[in-house]
Amino acid sequence: MKIDRAAVKEARKRFERILEAQLGRVERLKEAPEWIDYRGLRPLRIGIIGGDGIGPVITREAQRVLETILKPELEKGAVRFRFIEGLTIENRAAVHQAIPDQVREEIKRCPVLLKGPTTTPRKGDPEPNIESANVALRKELDLFANVRPVRVPELGIDWTFFRENTEGAYMLGSDGFLVTDDLALDFKVITGPGSERIIRLAFEYARKNRRQRITAVSKANVIKTTDGLFLDTFFRIAAEYPEIEADDWYIDIMTAKLLDPNRRAGFQVFVLPNLYGDILTDEAAQIQGGVGTAGSANIGRRSAMFEAIHGSAPRMVKEGRERFADPFSMIRAAAMLLAQIGYPDRAKKLEMALDICGQYEKRLTVTGRPGGATTREITDYLLETLIDSELEEKWRRW
Ligand code: IPM
Ligand code: MG
Repeated sequence: MKIDRAAVKEARKRFERILEAQLGRVERLKEAPEWIDYRGLRPLRIGIIGGDGIGPVITREAQRVLETILKPELEKGAVRFRFIEGLTIENRAAVHQAIPDQVREEIKRCPVLLKGPTTTPRKGDPEPNIESANVALRKELDLFANVRPVRVPELGIDWTFFRENTEGAYMLGSDGFLVTDDLALDFKVITGPGSERIIRLAFEYARKNRRQRITAVSKANVIKTTDGLFLDTFFRIAAEYPEIEADDWYIDIMTAKLLDPNRRAGFQVFVLPNLYGDILTDEAAQIQGGVGTAGSANIGRRSAMFEAIHGSAPRMVKEGRERFADPFSMIRAAAMLLAQIGYPDRAKKLEMALDICGQYEKRLTVTGRPGGATTREITDYLLETLIDSELEEKWRRW
């Protein structure tokens, strides 16, 4: 048998560079900065990034909702919006960067970001194979926690997912390589400090919100080393929270259990590595009404970014259907933004209005195509519901 020694040598060099970078990162993770206090910032700058595809259409509506809710703060100058242009696939492809330099500069000035979806080219697409802007931003700003709530009150579902957001299969997603034409390698990285920080955040959330159960999801029966470290860390930390029931499930059976009407309402908080979180939250969102209904918060110690859980829907744009896109994913993200920067009561009200319009009353529905409500119409309906003096009564009635 002939082994390609030159290929081994080349791969070894690459692997060495990866190892050095990763060991350096683990050391840096051990020196976590203080948590930012948004209330102490005046003005608080919120960067608004439209993205591409359906992004600008739905982000504009989320912005309109925030303008209504933060009117006094915007007028006083306590909160300021900054509009950040240029995070589009065309521009990123032109400069060959996941985050163009001028966008990166702007983003650094805003500790809070509301970001529309951006297109991620995949291998073989006509665009250069640049990294996903989402993934690059999460890494760049060290937004390690991707928090994704899914609620379907009529089914008793109230789930909060804590998806690890900087490691796992994503960490080196653009650093895999072909050792030879026939041998492709990608890497999955899980670190102790990286697991610990997301797991602790999930337990702290559960404690603060009086949730009784937290579930780790892995595939540690097969992917033993990386998922094993995640799971060991989970049970070690669980011991510090004796009032919370901690259990673990494998990702395959977990996807089944989310569909099991007898079991699913029993799950409350989930904590899971990056790729499992990516997949499971799309499934969960579908149960709530589709990925267009789910928002997410990317939380770091120094900044936070709020976005829809879905991509830029190039198919909708190609078929000319973008004005029928569901903005509720971005508006749910906006509600999470409000809670994070210190307005939990206003966030709660916005969520009530979203529930009424999207799940209970449903006077209008978005279908993503002609015949359904437009992005603009459904937002008008939401704003009308939001300022209704009977909002809370209405919500409680359901
Ligand atoms: C998400 C999205 C992204 C991800 C894509 C667009 C890179 O699916 O936020 O879940 O895989 O994380
Ligand atoms: Mg996803």
